[in-house]
Amino acid sequence: MSHAASKVQPITVAAIQAKKDAGEPISMVTCYDSAFGRIVEASPIDMVLVGDSLGNVMLGHDSTIPVTIDDMVHHTAAVTRVVRRPFVGTDMPFMTYATKDDALRNAAKLVQKGGAHAVKLEGGEVICPQIEALVANGIPVIGHLGLTPQSVHALSGYKVQAKEKAAQKKLLADAKALQDAGVFCLVLEMIPAALGASVSKSLSIPTIGIGAGAGCDGQVLVLQDLLGFDESFKPKFLKKYADLNKIVGDALVSFNKDVKSKKFPAAEHSFGS
Ligand code: KIV
Repeated sequence: MSHAASKVQPITVAAIQAKKDAGEPISMVTCYDSAFGRIVEASPIDMVLVGDSLGNVMLGHDSTIPVTIDDMVHHTAAVTRVVRRPFVGTDMPFMTYATKDDALRNAAKLVQKGGAHAVKLEGGEVICPQIEALVANGIPVIGHLGLTPQSVHALSGYKVQAKEKAAQKKLLADAKALQDAGVFCLVLEMIPAALGASVSKSLSIPTIGIGAGAGCDGQVLVLQDLLGFDESFKPKFLKKYADLNKIVGDALVSFNKDVKSKKFPAAEHSFGS
């Protein structure tokens, strides 16, 4: 079906802002492939993020740092081939937006080849020139403050950020600078709930929290985390809505048993002449 003929009403930047203005919480999940993209498309989720967390979740890295622009284009395209209604943002990976030229060149790949509707950059005031350049070129930008995983080494690990007053003041100033530079929404990761709430109140754009408390305008979780793929991953902010680790594991045990006992394939799975 052509996009024009489709009845699907895609969620836009304006629709996301309208949700904040109306006090309607915004739901966002990560997604990295078409198989899950089809399920997300059929769900009521508002926004999809092709996160560079795909480095950990899909590619077996232990951080997001090894993720390349080609990885992001590849996975973003897989998602945007099937996701039509939710808004699709994608991460600019480590060191792909160090300068304005880098940011423009690499964001163009994500939007043109990957089909992303927006790009997400980690960082505060220092990356405002890159954000302004992207916005001036018609690319919607999502900001990301608090725990910024691309800076894991500088932050000395994955831990709650902005616990002290000075850091809280700085985070709020960064949030306002990002808003002034033109980001249309802001991810807040692993900060105290009270700070998440006060940043959300201070900004006119929506905030999307992950471990940033109930006062944010929306919430995001990594899809595989909320589905319970990794038994050992239990951060305080995560709520698991399914136990796919067990469901998939049990299915594989059953398939293996049927193959070994020659119970599969049965007649109904076999072709006649
Ligand atoms: O990469 C990612 O998945 C993210 C979310 C956790 C917000 O940045």
